[in-house]
Amino acid sequence: MKNQLSYLLVFLFIGLSQAAEKVTFEKHIRPLMKEHCLNCHNPDKSKAGLDLSSYDATLKGGSSGEIVKAGAPDSSLLYMTIIHHEDAEAMPPKKPKIADKKIAIFREWILGGLVENEGGKSKLRKIEFDVAAGSAAKPSVIPMPKNLAEARNSKKVPVVQAMAVSPWAPLVAIGGHKEVLLYKQTESGQELLGALPFEHGVVYDLKFSKNGSILVASGGIEAKTGKVVLYDVLKGKKITEIADEQDVVLAADISADHQFVSIGTPLKMIKIFNVKTGKMLHRIKKHTDWVTAVSFSPKGDQFATGDRNGGIHIWEAKLGGIVLSLSDHKLKINDLAWRADGMMLASASEDGKFILWDMKDGWPAKVVDAHVKKSPFRYTRMTGILSLDWSRAGTLVTSGRDKTIRTWAVDGQKVGKPKESKTLPTAVRLSEDGQVIVGTFNGELKIMP
Ligand code: HEC
Repeated sequence: MKNQLSYLLVFLFIGLSQAAEKVTFEKHIRPLMKEHCLNCHNPDKSKAGLDLSSYDATLKGGSSGEIVKAGAPDSSLLYMTIIHHEDAEAMPPKKPKIADKKIAIFREWILGGLVENEGGKSKLRKIEFDVAAGSAAKPSVIPMPKNLAEARNSKKVPVVQAMAVSPWAPLVAIGGHKEVLLYKQTESGQELLGALPFEHGVVYDLKFSKNGSILVASGGIEAKTGKVVLYDVLKGKKITEIADEQDVVLAADISADHQFVSIGTPLKMIKIFNVKTGKMLHRIKKHTDWVTAVSFSPKGDQFATGDRNGGIHIWEAKLGGIVLSLSDHKLKINDLAWRADGMMLASASEDGKFILWDMKDGWPAKVVDAHVKKSPFRYTRMTGILSLDWSRAGTLVTSGRDKTIRTWAVDGQKVGKPKESKTLPTAVRLSEDGQVIVGTFNGELKIMP
């Protein structure tokens, strides 16, 4: 009996130490390369300019550049080739896939940060956030509206598609049909204050300016008209209208100094306008599909745009020049948000992942399968992130098609348990004091405990 017990302990110990062992190039990857790849990818015969016989050569990549990205297997060409992804050449060629177990080892190695050997370091970037660097001065007048018009449609609440929460006031804006509904945020819920008219159709996107004094509503009528309307929040009045599109404006945002408005459209266009004159400054066709998200950086010198094909670009606002292109998402971008210090951009996609992009160089510092779930029903999608927002302290909230709302720490690690929503949580935003506000497909507005 005693003997059996010690055997059991030994097995347990081996099991545990194996689970904790880090996957390295020398110990795990090199033997797999030798078995399956080196025939064609060695220093003397390097198909596609690729030599996989050493760590350095593997990291260097082939004639089309790098083939591995630390932390991001799904966008690493090496991984895509071995899982026979449709966007890559299948490897090894003309043969069945290598065993799932072996594929899992490659995945683990990339996720773990491409460690070379026992004493080697992970190439994953540390994500840190200095709260002070992201703190902005509170405006002297808290922008809460007075004298709002009555909501025309207060009984029939719209699908919460566009939602914005003031960065400084207890104020929530919801996009409706021909109007924007404004709610006062209280500890227990929301109280309807009134509405701002939006004569051009359905509101697709809403943004408060960084100081909370201007609300930007964009939208229109499909295949007919698109507009952006700017409102003075304090006065509850329209300031100006911008753009004159033949289709809806899907997304728009305003720079921190209120000089520029940028818009995204179904015609794959980005346009930048001068707010004061209403003149279009730049008109850029770069996206390959509908532009579904637009977000200005905290300083306002740059903005990010995302499309229905998963593409993201970063632009310089004044000259309209491209700064970075970020292409690791495979499906539609539903939301984009900058961290308060402007050093990190978060993107939310229908592929279920959020990515934290280092804005120094556009590196995907963290890729997280945040809302990925197989649906038992053929026509129901449960994978996909619908919305995300940063807190001032650098934590993130996400809402997804799996009907959960999740919280993530500064480094992208899970915090606590996911919160369930009965109906699809189409929008999630954080209030100025950190409350999680959720808008749903049924037109409900909730505070998550
Ligand atoms: C029988 C020869 C052969 C074997 C074995 C082989 N490859 Fe290749 N590999 C090629 C050829 C040929 C190309 C160029 C394909 C092309 O661009 O048409 C290539 C290209 C690649 C590329 C670049 C693909 C691209 O789209 O640019 C990667 C990455 C790659 N191989 C990885 C691997 C890995 C990993 C293995 C082992 C699991 C492997 N290969 C095994 C012949 C081979």
